[in-house]
Amino acid sequence: MKNAPIGIFDSGYGGLTVLREIVRLLPDHDYLYLGDNARAPYGPRDFDTIYHYTLECVQYLFGQGCPLVILACNTASAKALRNIQQLVLPQLAPDRRVLGVIRPTAEVIGGYSKTKKVGVLGTLGTVRSESYLIEIGKFFPELEVMQQACPMWVPLVENGELESAGTDFFVKKYLDELLAKSADIDTLLLACTHYPLLEPVIWQFLPKEINVISQGKIVARSLVDYLLRHSEMAERLSKQALRSFHTTGSTEDFDGHATAFFGEAVKSIHVEVAHL
Ligand code: DGL
Repeated sequence: MKNAPIGIFDSGYGGLTVLREIVRLLPDHDYLYLGDNARAPYGPRDFDTIYHYTLECVQYLFGQGCPLVILACNTASAKALRNIQQLVLPQLAPDRRVLGVIRPTAEVIGGYSKTKKVGVLGTLGTVRSESYLIEIGKFFPELEVMQQACPMWVPLVENGELESAGTDFFVKKYLDELLAKSADIDTLLLACTHYPLLEPVIWQFLPKEINVISQGKIVARSLVDYLLRHSEMAERLSKQALRSFHTTGSTEDFDGHATAFFGEAVKSIHVEVAHL
């Protein structure tokens, strides 16, 4: 029996919001999710560390038989994807592919905005990399993009603090800072795969006319399109509707938190990915 799942990687739980949408569109494929929970959050870490951690996780997923890996993490996509695609794959794994979440989002985001002013909410790493400014500029040069780093949001989400007064405070704080950058923003992109869990809180502090865009569906549609265009990759993937969940952290924590992100109960196993 063929073992060639699609690898889905995130620093923690956030990528499960992407996997959930991918599974809706491609339910027959096998998936192996890896959360580097022991080393999350990645957002505040420096470029070299994020690159090094992401590469270890990608190599782990390759070692588990994944021909295709999705970095379901904006921070890793911003800081590590290009080097992995251009420097690592040609040398180490020329027949494997690694895709990110920033480009598919940048390709469509302009279609959501009438005022042509878009706010991007992300981790410190994603915002500092300016990847969204660069990528959106390629597809929608007429769009004005305002960025806002939200360094407290991932720790709040990772710790399950979705309904606390502290979360309300930090959601309002970053939204106010972003909206103060332009009165005409009509579209907010949640450019971190953890943030969809904060959507109900975000809505409380936003004017009704502002669209809030999460990436799960966008990335899922883009993967479907990729597999249609790359039949050689599509044919290599195994399809027994198997889903495995690996975490570098505690399985008890993972299984306890994952349901909120994935929408159904999961049973994870603990793994080590670091090459000491
Ligand atoms: N979910 C990751 C992202 O999309 C970020 C989490 C982190 O800071 O580790 O950027």
